[in-house]
Amino acid sequence: MSINTSIYVRPSTSSAAYLDWLQMLTGAGLILFMWSHMILVASVNLGAGAMNTLAHFFEATYMAQVGGPLVGATMLFHFILAARKVPFRAEQQGTIWKHAKFLHHQDTWLWLVQAFTAMIILIMGSIHMWVVLTDLPITAAKSAARIQGGFWLVFYLILLPMVELHVGIGFYRIGVKWGFIKRKNRKKFHKFENILTGIFIFIGLITLIRFWFLTTA
Ligand code: HEM
Repeated sequence: MSINTSIYVRPSTSSAAYLDWLQMLTGAGLILFMWSHMILVASVNLGAGAMNTLAHFFEATYMAQVGGPLVGATMLFHFILAARKVPFRAEQQGTIWKHAKFLHHQDTWLWLVQAFTAMIILIMGSIHMWVVLTDLPITAAKSAARIQGGFWLVFYLILLPMVELHVGIGFYRIGVKWGFIKRKNRKKFHKFENILTGIFIFIGLITLIRFWFLTTA
């Protein structure tokens, strides 16, 4: 006779709903952070002085020193919450892949993109935050030097689309899951999400080009 030694306890419906709420709230917080972050970094397009002034403000008020680690912790917490549903094992991945092909529904594919980009963002986002936050103060000259070195340019060219896809799809999925995107306006919102993702990738690329050519005395 075999004894089942599994200690897996299925969460109750109410705790599963509570964890879903937390996942959504941390996700929404991170979406707002990423939109603000992209706009703040893009301030370099107005001149190195504009970016330096903003960076100085965030450091003088300790928002970078306190907010940075908080963003990191939120990212990790959001990942742990979302990991409840991510297929990590090979057989689970095989099953979800078969289901996605069988269902042939765009939202299932979007979910797969969401799970894949999450892994990359967790690793690359953590490295990026560590490098920036352990080398304060943030200045346009330091950022430009990093990007002009080449390595960080390639790094950001990978991270940028990963983040923007994840943020765009996440925004759309929150809308579908929590009901403000209804079946009849799904297509419209989907288009809106694609445009938004495109705009942020465009802003990010312009900013990287600006850093590449930036000369500071
Ligand atoms: C509070 C934490 C963060 C700070 C202080 C910060 C700061 C910066 C700075 C100063 C740059 C300019 C490039 C450089 O200096 O190397 C930058 C670029 C970038 N960051 Fe962050 N960052 C933070 C969090 C994140 C997170 C969580 C992500 C995504 C997971 C992220 C993604 C990016 C990307 C993709 C770029 C390139 C931007 C572009 O294309 O113009 N950052 N960040």
